[in-house]
Amino acid sequence: MCGIIGYTGSENVKDVLLDALELLEYRGYDSAGIAVKDETSHVTNVYKCAGRVSDLRAICDSKKILSACGIGHTRWATHGGVTDQNAHPHQQGKVTLVHNGIIENYRELIADYDLQEILHSETDSEVVVHMMDYYYKKEKNLQKALERVITRIEGSYALCIVSTEHPDEVVVAKKASPLVIGRTEDASVAASDIPALLAYTKDVYFLDDLEMAVLKKDSITFYNKDGKEITKEMTTIPYDMEAAQKNGFDTYMLKEINEQPHVIQETLRGRIFEHSIVLDELKDVDFNKFNKVYYVACGTAYHAGLCGASILERATRLPVLTQVASEFRYNDPIIDEKTLCIFVSQSGETADTLAALKLANEKGCTTIAVTNVLGSTISREAQHTLYTCAGPEIAVASTKAYTTQLVLLTLIALYIADKRGDTVDTDLMEQLNNLPEYVSKLIDDEAIFENYAKTLKDKHDCYFIGRSLDYASVLEGALKLKEVSYVHADAYIAGELKHGPIALIEPGTVVIAVATQPHVAAKTISNIQETIARGAEVILFTVEGQEVSGVENIYYLPNINPLLQSVLVAIPLQLIAYHTACIKGCDVDKPRNLAKSVTVE
Ligand code: M6R
Repeated sequence: MCGIIGYTGSENVKDVLLDALELLEYRGYDSAGIAVKDETSHVTNVYKCAGRVSDLRAICDSKKILSACGIGHTRWATHGGVTDQNAHPHQQGKVTLVHNGIIENYRELIADYDLQEILHSETDSEVVVHMMDYYYKKEKNLQKALERVITRIEGSYALCIVSTEHPDEVVVAKKASPLVIGRTEDASVAASDIPALLAYTKDVYFLDDLEMAVLKKDSITFYNKDGKEITKEMTTIPYDMEAAQKNGFDTYMLKEINEQPHVIQETLRGRIFEHSIVLDELKDVDFNKFNKVYYVACGTAYHAGLCGASILERATRLPVLTQVASEFRYNDPIIDEKTLCIFVSQSGETADTLAALKLANEKGCTTIAVTNVLGSTISREAQHTLYTCAGPEIAVASTKAYTTQLVLLTLIALYIADKRGDTVDTDLMEQLNNLPEYVSKLIDDEAIFENYAKTLKDKHDCYFIGRSLDYASVLEGALKLKEVSYVHADAYIAGELKHGPIALIEPGTVVIAVATQPHVAAKTISNIQETIARGAEVILFTVEGQEVSGVENIYYLPNINPLLQSVLVAIPLQLIAYHTACIKGCDVDKPRNLAKSVTVE
């Protein structure tokens, strides 16, 4: 996830771009850059650097920049490290551009356009500027060149493009990445997100996928993918700057819950190709040499690790263990060069996970990091690193990072199974692609989950139960509830209830049960009956077609591959926690005593 901006108007564009990039910095903050048209020479000058927008501002402040047209970018790296060269804008010939998204077929395009020897960066985006240059030379018209480029590129993109030959023009296009366009009396502006526009206007246009627009100081012209001029309806934004940074949501947590269909899609992008999993980051690993696998993480990432471990163990029949990092590092684990250790961390900075990773490296294990933050310490310490594409997660309670971890860990499990010669479940592979749609439908049912949250309003305790993979889901559900709403929540393996925890059940106790795994669902459902008999108020999540009787609150999840149910059930459990916290007036984004990144032991 990156932030982009394009402006043409009357103000000094340097300030416009830098101010907007600061507002977009939450979308990515490892590098930043701007390209501005020199008013006299018409040359497009690029200023960019690895680092924050403040570093870029310092560079720009030392230059005399006078221009009223330009583009800008703040980066959340996906292809290529955090370097000045990989920072945007990218320039070729007369064309300069910024890109947010992932070009899936960039390798194929490098070959088709003979770019192997001439690329300056490691990014997928640079391929697009070379293609633009190629077609611009033929068409002599930026929009026509862009029209040809978008017929060839696959993946997600929002693009802002300028050319030296059209001094006050910015051309834009989008597919599966956001782009909003605004008009003021004397300027046109496009950006990844509404906050960056609100300083200028509340009147905006939303581009649909494959649409393009030509922005000039005094006009905006819209085009469909065939280059036909179209009209777009203007929308007036009904909220202010503060609300806009949360995209109109009241809190970051709710915004991030709602981003899950998109970020799951981004995490899957380019990873499944004709019934095989593409994880080039792992291509040098010999997976046949391992006799044991460890998943190591903390908190929510540990729960994702439990799911990943279970999927890997089933697919490969290798012994797989999951440990909390703070235990792993002090328990003298039996690990050596035949052990594969997978470390999961949203921030990539968690002290215990990092220490565990260093220990595994010292012992000669093969180490893989699954993290969300490019360039983070864990990403650098691990021998191999894969990134979830969740974008910056601001709320302390992890939501979108968790579901993208589940998705990436599933891909890794299938990849390893394939490389070891095990049979890979192609049905599971296909169903992964449907997850964004299912997750989106679950989010549409938010009112149902808000209603469930009302049951918890005055409760001190809540118990979560599940078996098998559902046990990892209820651990995560309980963690989410306790951390944001301060309701005491515990998760139990449903079969363990009668060995002690059932003593806690009394009339009015809330039990949230998850029964999505076909081989044990009926067993969990009988455990529910035992709690109902003792007066519990039960909320059950199971799958369509599962027989249940005597439970008042049942939510049926779509009956997809059981190994993917942990992604689906995460959504209602997040929304129950969220709404319970809201009803109780808790500070949802910054729960008491908690920090987003735990860099101390
Ligand atoms: O950044 P990490 O994934 O390593 O963080 C691990 C935990 O601190 C984190 O998941 C924590 O449990 C969250 N607050 C849960 O919502």
